[in-house]
Amino acid sequence: MFSVSEIITIKDKKFKRFIPHEQIQAAIQKSADLINRELKNELPVFLVVLNGAFIFAADLLKEINIPCEISFIKVASYHGTSSSGTVNELIGLTEDISGRTVVIVEDIVDTGITLEKIIGVLNKKNVKQIKVATLLLKPRSYKKEFKINYSGLSIGDEFVVGYGLDYDGLGRNLKEIYVLV
Ligand code: IMP
Repeated sequence: MFSVSEIITIKDKKFKRFIPHEQIQAAIQKSADLINRELKNELPVFLVVLNGAFIFAADLLKEINIPCEISFIKVASYHGTSSSGTVNELIGLTEDISGRTVVIVEDIVDTGITLEKIIGVLNKKNVKQIKVATLLLKPRSYKKEFKINYSGLSIGDEFVVGYGLDYDGLGRNLKEIYVLV
């Protein structure tokens, strides 16, 4: 047996154990079951949003038992010409996804701005439909209209680390989720 620390320090901040491993896995299983049921005839393409979603995606996709494809993307924003404003690009999206059911796999949806950027790009690619799977959702911060189809756990506005989520690049490797104290 190993013991899990209740309080950890990352750089200048202290974090408290918040969501234990079993609870994370149970939430993932629920989302996977729903995806397996709802998308069984869709041959979905899972688009895993790096970096944060890598651990969640690995655990979720091990529980997906329908035929599917998996791809990894990053969101990049840059300022285009003055008339076009900010341009969003999905790095890593090399395959043709037109006509496909796409499942965006996110670690956490906070304000929804990242999701909006991703959906904005995907909407121009003639996909059949877009679904969203996230491990964590902050409903109090979420201000967008897009439906979150597969949401693992809802939390408050607090800042969390672990299970893929980082504080200043650190903490992604933690097996459980910790909250800032
Ligand atoms: P949004 O665009 O506001 O929805 O934020 C999405 C991104 O912000 C996530 O993909 C995370 O990278 C980051 N983020 C939001 N909340 C947290 C948190 O509590 N801990 C770590 N990263 C977070």
